[in-house]
Amino acid sequence: MTVQHIHGGDIFGEAANLGLDCARILDYSANINPLGPPPAVFDAIQKNMEMIVNYPDPHCRDLSKSLCNYLHVKGKNVIFGNGVSELIYLLVRVLNCKRAVIPVPTFTEYGLAVVTAGGTIKEVPLAAEKNFSLEVDEIVSTISPADLVFICNPNNPTGNLYSRDEILYLLKECESKGAYLVVDEAFIDFVPDVKGYSVIPHVGTSSRLIMFYSLTKFFGMPGLRLGAMLGPSALIDEMTAAKDPWNVNLFAQVGGVAALKDVNHMQKTRELVTVEREYLYNNLAGLPGFKPYPGEANFLLVDIKNTGLTCAKLTQLMKQRGVLVRDCSSFDGLGNKHIRLAVKTREENRRLTAEFATVLEGAKI
Ligand SMILES: Cc1ncc(COP(=O)(O)O)c(C=O)c1O
Repeated sequence: MTVQHIHGGDIFGEAANLGLDCARILDYSANINPLGPPPAVFDAIQKNMEMIVNYPDPHCRDLSKSLCNYLHVKGKNVIFGNGVSELIYLLVRVLNCKRAVIPVPTFTEYGLAVVTAGGTIKEVPLAAEKNFSLEVDEIVSTISPADLVFICNPNNPTGNLYSRDEILYLLKECESKGAYLVVDEAFIDFVPDVKGYSVIPHVGTSSRLIMFYSLTKFFGMPGLRLGAMLGPSALIDEMTAAKDPWNVNLFAQVGGVAALKDVNHMQKTRELVTVEREYLYNNLAGLPGFKPYPGEANFLLVDIKNTGLTCAKLTQLMKQRGVLVRDCSSFDGLGNKHIRLAVKTREENRRLTAEFATVLEGAKI
């Protein structure tokens, strides 16, 4: 079986293709905090340079204390990984998942993890005409006999934020049908009222609730690779036994501790993303043939059907101008007429809009 992991953010590959230095690429294809990591992350890494002569802490003790304090959860309910991606694959293997339910379009690694482990997936389409809203009863009707139901909240790539009531309703149904509900909150910290949406208060209270928490997006450090899974302690124990003992490197551990302290950076990030998302949305809505969907995270999905261009063509034209945008044709359920754009700083968002205008003008839209 050939499995393709298609994602945005491949600036090294694209820079090599274009013959450009990475620093000259404007990357709108990966959804990372436009402010970058809190400055204390760089200090922590520098201060710990000489520690690389040691193995990293296999139990991530300091990091675990920091995350438990920050999220108000217990250490026995947390496991860390080399990004959430590692933990998705580990979870599927540990549970020996035979069948998973996945509303699409969504993050593609859930399906790939299940299929590469020999399981099957049942995709439940989210309809564009209904703004990709979650049809909970349709999902419920497909649960038996699933091992896992994956929900991404807010959803990548649509940006939809699902209510806690919808998620808790699904959890109840999963509990009664013997399935696990996996809620991936990789982008939830960008939501100003995060406490009104996150399932964290329910972690540990249900033997069927699993939650993913990534430090990649909101803390602006995808290159460090750091993510966590929260869930019932018995499952965390099984995953701990099955994982590589030193799966989280030393810099990720000290960087994570530093990042979780900087409340000011978190606040600034939420404010910037909220303002810039609206600015970008309005700019995109003003471009000929562009229809952005409203989103609640740090990215926007755009229907470009009325430009007459495919997303592959538009992506290519932008690439020639040194701008990477996410061609969404690899997301099941989207076809070849959608792109996804990160929300970045005002200056970058202005340049993106101008580049699109030039490309669309050249394509005579
Ligand atoms: C919804 C979602 N979950 C998880 C991940 C993986 O995050 P990490 O960098 O922590 O592996 C991504 C990355 O794009 C994502 O979009």
